[in-house]
Amino acid sequence: MKDTRTRAVITGIAGYLPDYILTNEELSRMVDTNDEWIMSRVGIRERHILKEEGKATSDMAVEAVKSLFEKTGTKPEEVDLLVWCGVSHDMVFPATANIISDKLGVKNAFSFDINAGCSSFIYALVTMASFIETGRCRKIVLVGAEKLTMYVDYTDRSTCPLFGDGAAAALIEPTSEDLGFVDSITRSDGAGCKHLHLPAGGSQLPASMETILRRQHYIVQDGQAVFKAAVSKMADTTMELMQRNNLSSDDVAWLVPHQANLRIICATGNRMGLPKEKVMVNIDRFGNTSSATIPLCLWDYESKLKKGDNLVISAFGAGFTWGAIYLKWAYNGVRDLSKGLTGGL
Ligand code: UT7
Repeated sequence: MKDTRTRAVITGIAGYLPDYILTNEELSRMVDTNDEWIMSRVGIRERHILKEEGKATSDMAVEAVKSLFEKTGTKPEEVDLLVWCGVSHDMVFPATANIISDKLGVKNAFSFDINAGCSSFIYALVTMASFIETGRCRKIVLVGAEKLTMYVDYTDRSTCPLFGDGAAAALIEPTSEDLGFVDSITRSDGAGCKHLHLPAGGSQLPASMETILRRQHYIVQDGQAVFKAAVSKMADTTMELMQRNNLSSDDVAWLVPHQANLRIICATGNRMGLPKEKVMVNIDRFGNTSSATIPLCLWDYESKLKKGDNLVISAFGAGFTWGAIYLKWAYNGVRDLSKGLTGGL
């Protein structure tokens, strides 16, 4: 039977990366590490860093959304919901989404934040799909943006090579075609908190001179515990999603994985039976940008995507949080109305 539900589709994608590039070579002059270790254990060669004084996560988000508006011919006043997802907010409150909306002149919308660690984009996309499917919203901007390096301790070699800054935004609209958001699995387990967290600055341990001196405003990660959980949860969830939607590895055009470690990405792709040509990878150039990795992948690979392509998106992050989404891509190649490219939409 034909599915006649209103579906949520991504109708445009745009990204932004700050200019400064921190290479493994430069890192190896800061801490006891080397390119060979980072490439073989993680797969990162370089990452972008927002260095300019006074610039915040919202500034990168604004650049990504401006570019999204240009590419899709969208006016700020047409947007009815703007959501920022991520962990590196501008301020504890108000919501970073409110600040982004103000900087962009998005006046006829409501805006709020979603934080689910590195699974933020998946959680947010699932939530946005519901707003579209119920008819509550018709034009949603979802932006994943992170100034994650503000949380990075550049004296800790076990975490400092991993993270980068960046932003990417998606426009989400309704369709009655057999395209867009099909199914998802999302899960969390707060027992994972001890393995990946940022200790100070919240209500449990408010910021003080002592927390600063104890370096408690930086990321704490038990890498091996997170690695093991990420490999099993990403693979299990994507397999469950494929099975219940009768998708074989031949049916899947692309795996869009969170970019935390090339070995986790490959393990997920292998479990799904996918050749590496079907797995989106840009961790080598951007590192782990948390909520921005998945939309940055979509932006990076946009020219290769075709209308109707089956995409499986998968992520794992602090919480623990994890999940997977099955969606059908909505257009062919780069969609950039400012250059006359419609993508067939
Ligand atoms: O995005 C949110 C979710 N996060 C993740 O999914 C991250 C998951 N975890 C990982 O990706 C990996 O565990 C890491 C990349 C963080 C670490 O890789 P690993 O292979 O698990 O390394 P390890 O922590 O077990 O350390 C192995 C060795 C140790 O030396 P010894 O004790 O064997 O002599 C470390 O001291 O590697 C050493 N090491 C380093 N050596 C050179 C740790 N960091 C470095 C470094 N350079 N930067």
